[in-house]
Amino acid sequence: MQTDIFTTLEELNKEIHSFRIEDETTLEAFRIKFLGTKNILKDLFGEIKNVPNERKKEFGQVINAIKAGAEERFLSAKEVMDASKAKNSFKDLDLYLPDDTAHKGSRHPISLVLSKIVSIFERIGFTVAEEREIEDDWHNFTAMNTPDDHPARDMQDTFYLKDSVTRLLRTHTSSVQARVMTSTQPPIRIIAPGRVYRNETISARSHCQFHQVEGLYIDEKVSFADMKQTLLYFAREMYGIQTEIRLRPSYFPFTEPSAEMDVYWGLKDEVDHRITKGTGWLEILGCGMVDPAVLTNCGIDAEKYSGFAFGMGIERQAMLLYRVSDIRMYFENDVRFLKQFHSVG
Ligand code: PHE
Repeated sequence: MQTDIFTTLEELNKEIHSFRIEDETTLEAFRIKFLGTKNILKDLFGEIKNVPNERKKEFGQVINAIKAGAEERFLSAKEVMDASKAKNSFKDLDLYLPDDTAHKGSRHPISLVLSKIVSIFERIGFTVAEEREIEDDWHNFTAMNTPDDHPARDMQDTFYLKDSVTRLLRTHTSSVQARVMTSTQPPIRIIAPGRVYRNETISARSHCQFHQVEGLYIDEKVSFADMKQTLLYFAREMYGIQTEIRLRPSYFPFTEPSAEMDVYWGLKDEVDHRITKGTGWLEILGCGMVDPAVLTNCGIDAEKYSGFAFGMGIERQAMLLYRVSDIRMYFENDVRFLKQFHSVG
């Protein structure tokens, strides 16, 4: 009986050392059989009660040594396997693959359109002028020939700062014209991109904040023809060399004469019909010759100098270029929307 149990132990020991561990599956089978919660060694430990007292000690030593041997075999097999796994994964590593561990962001569609517009004007000598979004009444309205009682003030619902009748969120980038003209003498050739605010109900077509780009050119003998040519150049750079424009008479307090510029967008599909109201033409900017009163307000000699100005909305053009029909998408910062934008080509 006693010899039997010692023989069993010996056989078990042989089995432990001859067990074929070839891969992860056989390693796991080994672990379950000899080291798991229900391993065969556990049952054998229970057999100690049948071992005569004088051999109990020996039995304990043998069985513990077998257990330690099983543990050692398991650990060394695992170590070999882990090492070869690491080596193989390194072998399969393609060092020429691009690193995709860091997520690269994309530029906001409004920024893309803005910088495209700015670069078109920079190529013909305009420089960027950036100014404050919190303006005063004078730069936003008064200097721009829009006095207190002028009906044009009602055209723009303005956000005034709390407890203030003179501080406001600029309603247009035309305030930058006043800022630049009061601090610089001509020649002036600036382009002013930025955010503007109007107290409008938020809907798919309008928002209480949006972006504009203002342009201002003041020098001696600047004519309406210069303006038209500059804007035609812009439209063709922006929308393609074949692009046609038209100027329609309009009214702005700070320009005289004033015009609105349309580009011919075409009527290729149903969306074109909808956005151009079936005409094929789309208004993209307001412009005109700077009213001499504005020059005088800003300290520029209106006898000597003349100039033109224009202002355009960015969201409108982004909506056209990207065919996004809801302006709110541009302000919600939904990553699923934003990550689709790379370039406007
Ligand atoms: N400021 C005008 C607007 O917001 C646009 C404009 C700018 C018109 C410059 C003429 C000249 O609608």
